[in-house]
Amino acid sequence: MKTLSNYPIDGKFGKYGGRFVPEVLMAAISELEEAYEQAKQDPNFCKELAYYLSEYAGRPTPLYYAENLTRKLGGAKIYLKREDLAHGGAHKINNTLGQALLAKRMGKKRVIAETGAGQHGVATAIACAALGLKAEVYMGVEDMKRQRLNVFRMTKTLKDSINEALRDWVTNLESTYYLIGSVVGPHPYPMLVRDFQSVIGNELKEQFMQKEKRLPDALVACVGGGSNAIGTFYPFENCPEVKLYGVEAAGEGIKSNKHAAALGAGAEGVFHGMLTYVLQDSEGQIQATHSISAGLDYPGVDAFCVLSKEEGIIPALEPSHALAFAMKLARKMKRKETIVVTLSGRGDKDVEVVADFLGVKI
Ligand SMILES: Cc1ncc(COP(=O)(O)O)c(C=O)c1O
Repeated sequence: MKTLSNYPIDGKFGKYGGRFVPEVLMAAISELEEAYEQAKQDPNFCKELAYYLSEYAGRPTPLYYAENLTRKLGGAKIYLKREDLAHGGAHKINNTLGQALLAKRMGKKRVIAETGAGQHGVATAIACAALGLKAEVYMGVEDMKRQRLNVFRMTKTLKDSINEALRDWVTNLESTYYLIGSVVGPHPYPMLVRDFQSVIGNELKEQFMQKEKRLPDALVACVGGGSNAIGTFYPFENCPEVKLYGVEAAGEGIKSNKHAAALGAGAEGVFHGMLTYVLQDSEGQIQATHSISAGLDYPGVDAFCVLSKEEGIIPALEPSHALAFAMKLARKMKRKETIVVTLSGRGDKDVEVVADFLGVKI
């Protein structure tokens, strides 16, 4: 694997990323880049972030050896990095606390965000509540129907779509901070999200070393916008002995066009202010993604049920995709080998969707 510079040159990782935004936003994203560069070198900012991550979000999250699941599969040892136990029920809080602290430092009083599955919206609302900032969250209508529980958990205004959020930001640049929840958006957002989520990989490296006195053989994380995956993988960038697996949702199959595998089956395109891989039609129009989960197949439902039954842990559907892959992988690996799966969130929000899929009335 080619190692890229830690600081994206001209805001790019290789040729990807960059800044594809209207001129009116350039000053705002440059201001953000500068503020972040200063903040990360300021011991007070680092201390305050560490305080909120531990005292408010409940970090470090445990690294749990899933002994029952391991025994059932009869292959590699499976560990779970329990981001589902972070406050709010997902990894999203690592990033929202970091960026909300940054917003405060920049003198912004209002934070806007846009959310798919709702977890990022919830994490934004709670981080802003803790830090005394006003939060407004935009969410698509379809996602609102699927994720009623999260809609209720966000007591703030919900409106439709990412474009609305961008429109809002352009109109209220002075007062408003746009808090992005995945590795998307113009530079410096992907770098910021990577850095704030790296707490996952840094913790797990140390915890794994303590338990097994070596590094894991494989890391597995689901990829929606990429934040829990990069947070897990980045601290292992220079460890070639550790295999990194990012798992996308294949929905009803790659050939069906009803999936969410932008990296596996998409093409290069400019989207959300950056050059990336996107699902698009022959005319370059962005296609809707499809998966059983709002954030990201059906093997995921099987993994959801197996983990619930074997370990008493109900995972969110997004990491259930990662778990489904890890279960297949574990069977092919030796018993002395090890896999760590990032369990990016808990499954309360998905119980109704799974019951519906299985034809169970609740
Ligand atoms: C629990 C959970 N995991 C994963 C994701 C996918 O996001 P990302 O790839 O940025 O981690 C989401 C999205 O909302 C989520 O709620």
